[in-house]
Amino acid sequence: MNKIIAANWKMNGNISLLDSFMDSIHNENFILAVPSVYIAYAGEKRKKFILAAQDCSVFEGYGAHTGEISAEMIKEAGAEYVILGHSERRATSNFDNVNSVYKKLNNAINAGLKVILCVDEDFESLLDQKTKELIKGNLNKIVVAYEPMSAIGTGKLPSATDIETAVLDIKNKCYNVKTLYGGSVNAENIRKILGINVVDGVLIGGSSLRLDEIKKFLTN
Ligand code: PGA
Repeated sequence: MNKIIAANWKMNGNISLLDSFMDSIHNENFILAVPSVYIAYAGEKRKKFILAAQDCSVFEGYGAHTGEISAEMIKEAGAEYVILGHSERRATSNFDNVNSVYKKLNNAINAGLKVILCVDEDFESLLDQKTKELIKGNLNKIVVAYEPMSAIGTGKLPSATDIETAVLDIKNKCYNVKTLYGGSVNAENIRKILGINVVDGVLIGGSSLRLDEIKKFLTN
């Protein structure tokens, strides 16, 4: 199956867990988003999966922006993807909004990164006109992840019909952009989710820290 399996460690994991992933996962459809401090380490090693960052700066390139990490730096460190607009950043921490995510999207694309653009139930307003235009011009570089807030970290998976309806809606609205599903995905329900035709893959949070689970995901 060629669907994308993306994993988001959030602010979790360490070098030894990363080593065990690099030692045992050989899969070109697997994307691992690690905390930014680990990107260069994994980027230099012979990893056999795709490396991602979990965010990038609204600022481009280089400059006097203490604590920021630009898309260019992420690319140079060895990542191919960046996750943007995760709901934990949009809502809980209030770090991001439609405009900052749009800037970051531009920065990422200009730096040569691919993007997993997260949206929640409110995808109508998160995918505003300018964002849609950018997606339209970069359909081979941007993947949307539909992650209903009600499902993130809650163990409450929407019905297959609800997932299908939302993903189809996003695709209809956004030039048939590839769309993943995220929220409470685990080894037990992944087969059902990947079995939904219009779903192009999954974005996994909590369960992605467990190498045994991830191996099950990849063999499903
Ligand atoms: P979860 O998180 O798999 O722990 O629900 C998903 C996400 O936040 O991307």
